[in-house]
Amino acid sequence: MSRFMPLQPTSVFRGDSPQAQAIAKLFYFDLVMAAVIFATVAALVFYVAVRFRERPGALEPKQDQGNEKLETLWTVVPGLILLVFMVETARTMNIVNPPVTKRTPNVTVIAHQWWWEYRYPGSGVVTANELHMIAGADWLLEVLSADVIHDFWVPDLGAKVDAIPGHPNYLWIDPRRQGTYLGTCAEFCGLQHALMGIRVMVQSPADFWAWEQSQLQVPEVPTQGPAAVGARLFRERTCRNCHAIAGTEAAGRVGPDLTHLAGRETLGAGVLSNTPNQLMKWLMDPQRYKPGCNMPNLHLTETEARDLAAYLEALR
Ligand code: CUA
Repeated sequence: MSRFMPLQPTSVFRGDSPQAQAIAKLFYFDLVMAAVIFATVAALVFYVAVRFRERPGALEPKQDQGNEKLETLWTVVPGLILLVFMVETARTMNIVNPPVTKRTPNVTVIAHQWWWEYRYPGSGVVTANELHMIAGADWLLEVLSADVIHDFWVPDLGAKVDAIPGHPNYLWIDPRRQGTYLGTCAEFCGLQHALMGIRVMVQSPADFWAWEQSQLQVPEVPTQGPAAVGARLFRERTCRNCHAIAGTEAAGRVGPDLTHLAGRETLGAGVLSNTPNQLMKWLMDPQRYKPGCNMPNLHLTETEARDLAAYLEALR
């Protein structure tokens, strides 16, 4: 059972934010215009092909060259059509990404090969892959990359925006409805580009604040049972070189922050659901589920993986 809001079907034809709605509207408009133009051209071609087809004994159709009226018409009309597209596109762009005034972003999105890091500058919360937002609030996202060019895209909530190293891009999203939205990386970024899932949890303000508070808690280091063994393994098996867990000396920033791993729905940016059993499988062979990812196979025994999973699944 998901602890979160129902999963919303992903569609570019809908939109649950003014930004995504504006894009959907433009998409419909372009689609209808293109359909009308296609139908008109196809009908004319068909008419000409039938009307002037070769028939036994028929004369050659009247030849017409250098018709100024016609030439003006087929230059001006497409020009006007393009102008309409341009105006509509510019209007939509202005709704989707109005100029960013001096304002602290609500969240900084940092793309990595192949996962997403989210940092909330207001509270200091750092999390991975699952972005929490408030329904009914306007959010400014700052989008960055730690390595190559990625592209942050949640079709139901906003525009696509490139994640470029050293060059912040901005994205406005005013989510209107509570729910879980799916997104994806939309720019080829290497082997696991297709498995770089985004989940956005749009919550009520109260639920969001509760989540944020829980993220600020420092989890206790277990002192007994399999979880305690797992905590020791975490220290000894180089996990901390890449991962951070608040309240421990682990402060690596190469991989996702694991401070509250147990509170997430999925593992590996959406490749596995987050259960102790799945986590154990992941720990034993990450390359099986995400070939090419930066997490090595540490050749853990099954018992070690189970203990490590017990520790990580205690990090709420
Ligand atoms: Cu990241 Cu494609």
